Amino acid sequence: MQVKKITIPDITRRKQQGPPISSLTAYDYPWARLVDQAGIDIILVGDSLGMVVLGYNGTVTVTMEEMLHHSKAVARGVERALIITDMPFGSYNASHREAISNATRLVKEGGADAVKLEGGTEMAKVAAAIVTAGIPVQGHVGLTPQTATSLGGFKVQGRDARAAKKLYDDALAMEEAGCFSVVLEAIPAPLAAHITKKLSIPTIGIGAGSQCDGQVLVMHDLLGLYDRFTPKFVKQYAKLSRLSLEALTVYKNEVEERRFPADEHSFAMKEEELVQLLKALGE
Ligand code: KIV
Repeated sequence: MQVKKITIPDITRRKQQGPPISSLTAYDYPWARLVDQAGIDIILVGDSLGMVVLGYNGTVTVTMEEMLHHSKAVARGVERALIITDMPFGSYNASHREAISNATRLVKEGGADAVKLEGGTEMAKVAAAIVTAGIPVQGHVGLTPQTATSLGGFKVQGRDARAAKKLYDDALAMEEAGCFSVVLEAIPAPLAAHITKKLSIPTIGIGAGSQCDGQVLVMHDLLGLYDRFTPKFVKQYAKLSRLSLEALTVYKNEVEERRFPADEHSFAMKEEELVQLLKALGE
């Protein structure tokens, strides 16, 4: 049966009609298939890829080519979910022309339905230029990992009234720029609730409390696959690192003890063929 693909209007309608929007990252074909089969609305090919898949210390070093490579793999595995691919650091801040050209590549070559970029008021014109070029944009304000160093590290943002008002203005600027939704990362829940009430586009929270119009998490955090650092806002729904390590160790031991492969994993040969073979081999 043909599955109906989720569209941007489907996502924006959910602000009024609910239920809350579910979003999760995926970076390759098998996991994208599973996330899609679970019925998650938005798959984000996040540049968190750099940390949880490629082993970098942050997201700044992630390149356009890496984002394209993983976005393509995800697109091959998805039938229903909306695919949003992150614009990596340096791909949208030099000029509008370059930003549009890179966003276009993520859609045309990477199979993305929309792109996401980090930044508030200062990035509003770039977001507007990409939207005008016909590409849906998701904004991302609050803790923006690509500029975490300037923000003082991976810290909650907008804790005092002045900083909170700046984030409120940032989110509004992204709406005015034409973004179809905005990610609110690591900000106090009451601030996220006020922003959500004010905006007419859906807010997608990560560490922003329960009042956002949707939630997003990094899949490797949710599944317990990334153990270098787990933020406070992550709920681990499984411990796949531990399970995987147990399975890998059992495999290693079974190989060493010749318990794998067993007969059911091996191919037999007709007795008479074997006899002929042995004859031919002179054994
Ligand atoms: O890159 C990413 O995974 C993200 C989410 C944390 C929102 O931007």
